[in-house]
Amino acid sequence: MGLSKKDILDIESLSVEEIELILDTAESLKEISTRPIKKVPTLRGKTIVNFFYEPSTRTRTSFEIAAKRLSADTVGISASASSIVKGETLVDTARNLEAMNPDAIVIRHKSAGAAHMLAGLVDASVINSGDGMHAHPTQALLDMMTVREKKGRLSALRVAIIGDIAHSRVARSNTLGFGKMGANVILAGPPTMIPRGIEALGAPFTYHVAEAIKDADVIIMLRIQKERQGGYLFPSEREYAQCYGLTTERIAGAKEDVLIMHPGPINRGVEIAPDVADGPYSVILDQVANGVAVRMAILYLLLGGPR
Ligand code: CP
Repeated sequence: MGLSKKDILDIESLSVEEIELILDTAESLKEISTRPIKKVPTLRGKTIVNFFYEPSTRTRTSFEIAAKRLSADTVGISASASSIVKGETLVDTARNLEAMNPDAIVIRHKSAGAAHMLAGLVDASVINSGDGMHAHPTQALLDMMTVREKKGRLSALRVAIIGDIAHSRVARSNTLGFGKMGANVILAGPPTMIPRGIEALGAPFTYHVAEAIKDADVIIMLRIQKERQGGYLFPSEREYAQCYGLTTERIAGAKEDVLIMHPGPINRGVEIAPDVADGPYSVILDQVANGVAVRMAILYLLLGGPR
């Protein structure tokens, strides 16, 4: 069974069954990455373009590795090394890429809606790997995979998402994804980082970190997104760490087997203390490993059979 859709653009457009199919497929494909020869011929002859208008370490590398492990050919384009610097528009760029007949385009863009627009312009599958403050669906899928792997389920877990909610596409996608799969999500952050209209995400919120952490099964800390804030939303990093950072003392309020997660990159000592990021409850590097498996699953389900 494959996915019946052409693109992966956001969590809203995935059904519970489709999310389960992606997670199940990722679980079975994960084993390939542990073999001495980490490659299967499944997507031989397919071409995947990784088109990144914004910096990325984890997402870009894991899409590239995922494609190569499935034997697809990959091409990477950065905005700074493309004709975008000469003023070419996204529409013209899309039309020119389409003329080269790729099978999939993975796009990260600073503007919300860029992946949706691209999907309407090309026959290739489009995978949104982060569009502005809107969505990062593959991050939410790898986070759900990590929690399901560790806890055996997603339903009825208390998932606290803490930090810069206003600027975080990860917060939006995870709130919708975990909520769709039956988890109880609670959001927390300083008033300046809780957006207007947050109620639309369907999760309760609090300005008090301790309240969100209380009895949590999972804590997802968010990066302070200085590049999107356009001004100071808190007095200093030291004060942010004191009031909202995740420390060993704060974790004491959560369940004994709590999972600590962070999408990366981490501002060590700001939203999360180094000893917590590297500590016994942290599954941050498991998230990264599962990123390869989830992206293999998505490429396989979109390109591996007749659409
Ligand atoms: N989590 C995430 O999207 O990391 P990168 O920005 O490094 O891809």
